[in-house]
Amino acid sequence: MKTIKLSIDKAFAFIDKQKVTAYKMPAEAANLALHRATGRGSDFLGWLNLPSSIDEAHLTDLENTAQILRKNCEVVVVIGIGGSYLGARAVIDALSNSFDWLLTDRKSPIILYAGQNIGEDYLYELQQLLKTKKFGIISISKSGTTTEPALAFRLLKTQLEEQQGKEAARKLIVAITDKSRGALRTLATQEGYKTFVIADNIGGRYSVLSPVGLLPIAVAGFDIRQLVAGAVEMENETAVEVPFEQNLSAQYAAVRNELYQNGKKTEILVNFHPKLHYLSEWWKQLFGESEGKENKGIFPASVDFTTDLHSMGQWIQEGERTIFETVISINETNHITVFPNDPSNLDGLNFLAGKRVDEVNKMAELGTMIAHIDGGVPNLKVVLPKLNEFYLGEIIYFFEKACGISGYLLGVNPFDQPGVEAYKKNMFALLEKPGYEAETKAIKARL
Ligand code: PA5
Repeated sequence: MKTIKLSIDKAFAFIDKQKVTAYKMPAEAANLALHRATGRGSDFLGWLNLPSSIDEAHLTDLENTAQILRKNCEVVVVIGIGGSYLGARAVIDALSNSFDWLLTDRKSPIILYAGQNIGEDYLYELQQLLKTKKFGIISISKSGTTTEPALAFRLLKTQLEEQQGKEAARKLIVAITDKSRGALRTLATQEGYKTFVIADNIGGRYSVLSPVGLLPIAVAGFDIRQLVAGAVEMENETAVEVPFEQNLSAQYAAVRNELYQNGKKTEILVNFHPKLHYLSEWWKQLFGESEGKENKGIFPASVDFTTDLHSMGQWIQEGERTIFETVISINETNHITVFPNDPSNLDGLNFLAGKRVDEVNKMAELGTMIAHIDGGVPNLKVVLPKLNEFYLGEIIYFFEKACGISGYLLGVNPFDQPGVEAYKKNMFALLEKPGYEAETKAIKARL
């Protein structure tokens, strides 16, 4: 198996296969609209041909910059939120040792994250930890003005300068932002930081294959060339001339829209490997921010199995029948653990002796799928041959393309996020930010 696979057959116990097949024309039209830039949000299509347009000079620049941070830092703090954070974390977590931060024979800096919350305890504890560490910062914000990362950056930049001196600190900070606009760009120019540009036509949630994702992933020690190669492969496999029957992204977009039309309003992304937790978080943002608008859109949820079978499993099995599942299945694990025989067999587990732990996990996966289908939950499956950079690149582009097509099938603009502004306006009004005087007055009157 050279590429990821999509299995949608198990949905046809719940929806009419012919109706899904009938999406051929609209799904191919949606793909064409993406490629011809004739659909809504067409000024945000920089992600579409991004993988195949990444050149050698750009990769080398990213790798060289990563090398400087890798050589000089025990810890690199990646500052960003939403699309400026989740993609990098999804890939780094999926590829890292589960106990990464405890390893003593590390070859890469520990990657920590900030700017994705405003928890004072979180930031305090991070700053305490960094007091004894040689650390660097990758500060990521397309707008350069988002409050959460800006706040974290000011705190950590100040600390780094106090610990290292301004000149040394300058060499340990990389900014990834707009080419000319925003406070982060101004700061970076002023301070002389190394910078990478987020192209105008790439929205946050579609930016993981830009420096936003690639630099932190390279710093963590992973092969960004393979990641990009996997994405290029999927770019080709979902190209505009690929017919619906062979286009995995188009098929996934079609089947989930048909499920939605049949009352399945929530899609749960399921994994059976805890390393995939943040891939689900990335996927939730991608689909949630792209489709949840105009009072429409599948609600994207996620669970980590088998862990959550002991919490959410009951709801999924017997709760309101408005859900469907998409399982991310990994064919081959990267390590082997064989279950030992125990002559006393006091735990009664000798029936598993000699079996791989993954065989038990696979039977849990299969058993769960059958149980959930029996319980009225349609089941889709995306299969990765292995968890590595190449297949992660494939699945990232697979979902991005599917999201673009799916948004068009739903009839929304999958590339804007007008709803994200509402909380910011209230927060600035409550914090009495200059320029928000009228809003401050209005909101205070409501308290
Ligand atoms: O997908 C998006 O556009 C958002 O999630 C942004 O990435 C997020 O709000 C952070 O924005 P910025 O990169 O401008 O700080």
